[in-house]
Amino acid sequence: KRFYKVLAIETSCDDTCVAIIDRYSLKEPPKLLANFKDTLDSKDQGGIIPTKAHLHHQSRVGPLVDKALNEANSRTGIDLVCVTRGPGMPGSLSGGLDFAKGLAVAWNKPLIGVHHMLGHLLLSRMNSNGEEPEFPFINLLVSGGHTLVVLSKSVSSHEILCETIDIAIGDSLDKCAREIGMKGNMLAKSMETFINADLVHSKSDSVEMKLPNPLRNQNGRMNVQAFSFAPFITAVRKSMTKQLEDYSVMELRSIAYQIQEALFNHLISKIKLTLHFNHDKLRDAKHFVCSGGVGANRRLREKLEDELSDAFTSFHYPEPSLCTDNAVMIGWAGIEIYEKLRLTTELDINP
Ligand code: KG4
Ligand code: ZN
Repeated sequence: KRFYKVLAIETSCDDTCVAIIDRYSLKEPPKLLANFKDTLDSKDQGGIIPTKAHLHHQSRVGPLVDKALNEANSRTGIDLVCVTRGPGMPGSLSGGLDFAKGLAVAWNKPLIGVHHMLGHLLLSRMNSNGEEPEFPFINLLVSGGHTLVVLSKSVSSHEILCETIDIAIGDSLDKCAREIGMKGNMLAKSMETFINADLVHSKSDSVEMKLPNPLRNQNGRMNVQAFSFAPFITAVRKSMTKQLEDYSVMELRSIAYQIQEALFNHLISKIKLTLHFNHDKLRDAKHFVCSGGVGANRRLREKLEDELSDAFTSFHYPEPSLCTDNAVMIGWAGIEIYEKLRLTTELDINP
């Protein structure tokens, strides 16, 4: 079908997400008819409990799809069902996947299982009005589960150039934030808000943190093409010499600022190294895309553009609310797979 409507579902982690996209023209950005998210409340827990997430998706996906179909006035007329197939927690994924398969069968429409990271990676191509990143381009994917520098050559060809040897940057930021007393989830986001609440970092309030730039050799040289974000958590713990209650808000703000800077500096020094080591391969990649939850961070965007402007002619990001997990990116990646690769997914797939 030339023009069609897409229902997309994303349930890889703790957000139940549903979107409906109208592909009313092949030349213009598609219209977003509905975009909903229902997040599991984990405030009182240390993190996300997989069994609770599973039950959350199972109970929320039905009502949310119902609401989206009403909002989009599309109770009939969906032509394609897209859903996150992985990676993610199997229980969470099956909450969306099983429901999507059921809809595809009931409506007799094709199903497309989408890789979650492909969603983050392709979304910047959706809404740019002729200024979208063109292949080949460089992708920085920074989320709670991934830290990847990817060379994207086409919708189906992606080469990972640099990744983390331990935990992802978002995970590390969240855990460092917990070390300085913050509670809930998406703590890196709360930390950004906390830092920006007062732009004055006066000297008297600054606590000097000893934070590393990991993966250097004995001479301090940066020659390993990989990220490492676990050492920051221990370093934060070791640098905090007083009881948490004894720090003033201004001191904590200064600490939060230094944590964020240190992790972003590590990220950028390793990106630069990756660009250097892959110079020939990257000759034609002039567009830089940054996505994933951490990609919503304003300071990160500023630093990337300051530090990498020599290597790239343009920088692209999804709007901040679409950097974190959402169903729009799954729908858009599904559209690219459907139109460019002419692929659909069998009904017998597992998460
Ligand atoms: O992409 P995402 O929503 O989920 C995963 O696929 O992991 O990313 C979530 C991560 C969390 O670590 C969250 O704290 C972080 O992205 N994050 C941010 C911001 N918003 C979300 N980190 C820094 N600055 C933000 N504004
Ligand atoms: Zn994600």
